[in-house]
Amino acid sequence: MPNPMVSPDGRPWVIPAPDVPAIKRPIPNPALRHYPKLVGEHPRRWKFPSYLVNESTPWLRSLREMYEMPIVFPASLSPEAGLMLHGLVRNMRPRVAVEVGTFLSVSTHWIASALKESGDGALLHCFDDFGPIHKGPWRDAEMLSGREEWVKNRLDRAELLDRCRFYPGNSPLRLLEQRDALRAAGGVDFAFIDGDHGVYGAVQDFWAVEPILNTGAYVVFHDTFPDQCGGHNGPREILDRINEIGTGLYEKLELYLSPLNYGMGVLRRIG
Ligand SMILES: C[S@@+](CC[C@H](N)C(=O)[O-])C[C@H]1O[C@@H](n2cnc3c(N)ncnc32)[C@H](O)[C@@H]1O
Repeated sequence: MPNPMVSPDGRPWVIPAPDVPAIKRPIPNPALRHYPKLVGEHPRRWKFPSYLVNESTPWLRSLREMYEMPIVFPASLSPEAGLMLHGLVRNMRPRVAVEVGTFLSVSTHWIASALKESGDGALLHCFDDFGPIHKGPWRDAEMLSGREEWVKNRLDRAELLDRCRFYPGNSPLRLLEQRDALRAAGGVDFAFIDGDHGVYGAVQDFWAVEPILNTGAYVVFHDTFPDQCGGHNGPREILDRINEIGTGLYEKLELYLSPLNYGMGVLRRIG
């Protein structure tokens, strides 16, 4: 064992080591000061930042148009969360990416645009039931039929359709069906899971993709803080119990989101 009091080249440390208790305990939640919560009135739509308005880039133009549609709120990623996802994908450059929960394709735009910018032929495999969208809390609009065609038209307008493949139906079952093909394509490097938010459904989605994740793959869950996002507790349960319910070893990171802190969790498979 190296002596921690001496640096690797034998010199004394200039900066003293922090005082680390022998047993590390998690900080109790009330002590988590940096945890953004909604201040003031609940917003009624996502606000697309003016610095992203760029009418000559088709995917940014398409996103700007979509964020003006009342139906995308609140179930679609906020622009700030989308930007974070785009940055993650752009930097890690997955070859094979999976999205569970396409909805109206806002998250699809953020991910597929990053794949397109990387320019190396990577594909996003999109799983969704493409069922009817009903009015609900904070959503005073509906789309009762034709969602898959609508999504494809949007992605075509954004010049991202060629980066996407679609698998309509029940996501865990469709993923299971596609396992061999995705494995043959090189295995999954990136998965964004934002479909069924119940514990059973979210775990099924995760288990359907987990055996074909590559070492180093990222899995991103949306809506990880149930008290902030309508009580959906599936993604939370997976993050809290990942090494009980996952077969590999995972690193884990919690990400805070604003203006509404629905939360994102990132797993990195290291086994
Ligand atoms: C919260 S929305 C996804 C939002 C989207 N990721 C975005 O940010 O733009 C959840 C989507 O998952 C779909 N979904 C829920 N359960 C599903 C299941 N078992 N199989 C397939 N799709 C499902 C819903 O129809 C909906 O389109």
